[in-house]
Amino acid sequence: MRASFPTEGTLPANVRVDTRTLDDRYLVDGELRTWSGGSAEVRSPICVRKADGTLERVVVGRMAQLDAAEARRALEAASRAWNEGRGPWASTRVARRIGAMEAFASKMGEVREDVVRLLMWEIAKTRKDAETEFDRTVQYVRDTIESLKGLDRDSTRFVMEEGFLGQIRRSPLGVVLCMGPFNYPLNETYTTLIPALIMGNTIVSKLPKYGAMAHLPLLRALAECFPAGVVNVIQGDGPTTVGPIMASGDVDCLAFIGTSRVVNILKRQHPRPNRLRSITGLEAKNPAVVLPDADLDVAVKECVSGALTFNGQRCTALKLIFVHESVAEAFVEKFSAAVDALKIGMPWEPGVQITPLPEEGKPELLARLVEDATSKGARVVNAGNVVEGTLYKPAVVYPVKPGMRLYTEEQFGPVVPIAVYRDDAEIDAFMRDSAYGQQVALFGRDPKRMAGLIDALVNQVSRINLNTQCRRGPDTFPFTGRKDSAEGTLSVFDALRAFSIRTVVATSSTEPNKELVSGIISGRLSSFLSTDFIL
Ligand code: G3H
Repeated sequence: MRASFPTEGTLPANVRVDTRTLDDRYLVDGELRTWSGGSAEVRSPICVRKADGTLERVVVGRMAQLDAAEARRALEAASRAWNEGRGPWASTRVARRIGAMEAFASKMGEVREDVVRLLMWEIAKTRKDAETEFDRTVQYVRDTIESLKGLDRDSTRFVMEEGFLGQIRRSPLGVVLCMGPFNYPLNETYTTLIPALIMGNTIVSKLPKYGAMAHLPLLRALAECFPAGVVNVIQGDGPTTVGPIMASGDVDCLAFIGTSRVVNILKRQHPRPNRLRSITGLEAKNPAVVLPDADLDVAVKECVSGALTFNGQRCTALKLIFVHESVAEAFVEKFSAAVDALKIGMPWEPGVQITPLPEEGKPELLARLVEDATSKGARVVNAGNVVEGTLYKPAVVYPVKPGMRLYTEEQFGPVVPIAVYRDDAEIDAFMRDSAYGQQVALFGRDPKRMAGLIDALVNQVSRINLNTQCRRGPDTFPFTGRKDSAEGTLSVFDALRAFSIRTVVATSSTEPNKELVSGIISGRLSSFLSTDFIL
C-alpha cells in the first residue's frame, strides 16, 4: 500500500469541520429540533495513526437516533401538511411552489463548502467528486424547475375529444417517504425529494446510515423555504424509525435507493400495499464486454474509471468485465497496470482516486469475496487485495467463472472481476440469468457485431453504453433498470411524472358548461382549472 493515514495533529486546516451547530439536529413540522433522547457518534472512515502505531477512526460529530414516537410525529406533520390534498402546499398554484424551490436552490449555495467537507469526512468522497455531487444536485434542482415550467405550460391547453372538453394536469400523490443511499447521500436523496416536493407532495426523509450529516447544513434552508410540515428530515435506526412509518399505512409513495432486500421489507410493512407507489433504485451487476476488435486503450481507460470511481461504490459501476479470449491477456496486463497506478490516499489529496471505505467491515468482506474466487482457481493479477484499516487496495481478479461469488454478487467496492468469453451468446446468457438488469458497456468497432449484442441485450437492461462506461448522467436521460435493479424511471423529466398522477376536469363541450369553465378561468377562481402559466 503506497498511501497511509495521517498521524494525529497533522490534518490540514482547510478540511476541518465544526459540527457543534449540527449535532443531533433534525427537522420536523418546520422546526429545527435538537434530539436529547440518544445519539450515535458519526465515525469517519478516515483514521489517524496514533503514536503507538494503531489506527483510530476520526469522530466527525453526533447524529440523533430518534425513537419510534418521534418518527411518527414526523409522519403526522407530513400528513397534516398534506391534509388529504387540501394542505396549502398541495393546493397552491404551481408558480408558488416554483418560487419556493428557486429560493431554496439559491440558499443551497451558501452551505456548499460545509456539505463538501462533510462528504469527505463521512464517506471519504474525494473533494473533486464531493464538489461534483453538490453542484450536480443544485443543477438538478434548477433543471427540475425548468422542466416543471414546461410541463405546466403544456397543461394549460384544453383538450377537445368526442364532445368532451377537458383540462389534464398532474396532481401530487400525498405523503412521500424518501430514503437515499450512502454513496450519493445528497444527490440520490434529492433526485427523489426535489421532484416529489415541487409536485406538491409532502415529505418524510429518513437519512442514510453513512453520509447523513452532509444533509444537516441544508435543514435551515428547507425550514425557511417550505411551509411547516411539508419537508421533515429524520435520522436513526431504520427498523425503529421507518418500521412504524410504513406500518401506519399513511405513506402514499415510497422513494427508496438501496437494496431489494430492504425495500421488500418496507413494502411488506404497509398494511394496504395496493395504495403504495414505489420508485426504487436498487442493486446492479453491470458488465463491460470487450470485443476482439475493441480499442484496448479506450476500453482500459473506461473500465478503470467505470469500475473504480469512488472505489466502485456506485450502483452504475462496472462490476464484471467480460473480455474476448483473443485479447484477454493483453487487456488484463494493461488493466492491472492502470489499476496499480491509481493514487490511494485521503479525500483532500490532489489527484487521489482510491480512499477509505465507510461501511464497517467492508475491506474484510471484499477480501472474503476474493478468497472465494482464488480458492476456485482465479488469481489476483495486480498488487491489490491489501487491507490497511479502512483502506483496501483495489484487486483485479482473473479469470472469474460461474460458481464464484464475484461472478454474480454485487461487490459494491474496489474489486474488479474479469471473465473470459468466446461467443457473444455467453453475454446474452449472463444477462438472462442475472438477478439484475440496469446497464451494460460494450467495447468494439464492428457495426454488425455491436448491433447483434445491442439487440440481444436491449430488452434485458435499461441502457447500453457503446465504448463508454456505464453511468447515470446526463440527468435528463432516463435512469432505471429491470428485475432487482429498479422500479419506475428517474430523470429530470420522468421524476416529475413519477411523483404525480394525471387528473382531469372534464365536461361536455356544450353550453352552459363552456360558459361555466370560462367563468372559472376568467375570474381566476381555481388553482387547478386555469390557463395561467409561468414563463
Ligand atoms: O449509485 C448510483 C448512482 O446514481 C450512479 O450515478 O453513474 O452518475 O455515478 P453515476
